[in-house]
Amino acid sequence: MEFITVEAQYAPYVALIRLNRPKELNALNLQLMGELRDALKALDADDTVRTIVLTGNERAFAAGADIKQMAGKTAIDMLTVDQFSTWDQIKKTKKPLIAAVSGFALGGGCELSMTCDMIVASETAQFGQPEIKIGVMPGAGGTQRLTRAIGKARAMEMVLTGKFISAEEAERFGLVNKVVPVEVYLEEAVKLASTIAQMSPIASQLAKEAVNRSYETHLDEGLHFERKNFYLLFASEDQTEGMNAFVEKRAPEFKGK
Ligand code: HXC
Repeated sequence: MEFITVEAQYAPYVALIRLNRPKELNALNLQLMGELRDALKALDADDTVRTIVLTGNERAFAAGADIKQMAGKTAIDMLTVDQFSTWDQIKKTKKPLIAAVSGFALGGGCELSMTCDMIVASETAQFGQPEIKIGVMPGAGGTQRLTRAIGKARAMEMVLTGKFISAEEAERFGLVNKVVPVEVYLEEAVKLASTIAQMSPIASQLAKEAVNRSYETHLDEGLHFERKNFYLLFASEDQTEGMNAFVEKRAPEFKGK
């Protein structure tokens, strides 16, 4: 891995991936995105990992797709490279994925943070879809996820003017879960990941899948999907353990079985 680092046991059951192209503000070139896809796939298959935190550095989560890599490309180059199949794979990550964002989260960087399940932001974080300023538009979900997260009027303004919003605005608009001082944003994200990692990993994966389904279907079908996952959890040892522990007034010990 050249452009990311991976610590599978950053905290008990919590993995940490850092985007690591600091000089380029973590601009997301094709290699970096491929490495991220591969790392997430490996962590998804690792039983010792239950939750994943994705971060950059204090100055930038990621300042977007690599403009220098895209500058000379034709539409057919972009089509044949098919970079979005990598993004589709990332979206399929089963384990809860938390973005810890400080500094710039712009363009593809903002889109990557929104591809995660939750966002913990530092007070210095700035979110934006500035593609319009370089003659294009969001391509990795920005027009869809941002609109669902913060509403049409605000998303339209960001996408059409390229203006950034602050962490405080992002929290108020419902884009991020929490804003904390820059010194502790990673720690807070890991704390959130650790809380989730104490739950049954089967339950958290099926619950994540069901919440995400709400974006992709109408209510009746979503409720049906939720119910199937709910029933399925009664086939897990963790369900027996969780309910017995409650009845016996003790802490549950989930095994992911
Ligand atoms: C390539 C980038 C980059 C990017 C920054 N850099 N963003 N390189 N692609 N997206 C490089 C700069 O060229 C510079 O390299 C170094 O990082 C530091 O950046 P500066 O501009 O000197 O820093 P600063 O003045 O602090 O400005 C920070 C910034 C600005 C406001 C974030 O860099 C900026 O506007 N970046 C582009 C943001 C953007 O338009 N993102 C959307 C991209 S399109 P050198 O070598 O000069 O020192 C997109 C499409 C997504 O994301 C859809 C497909 C996935």
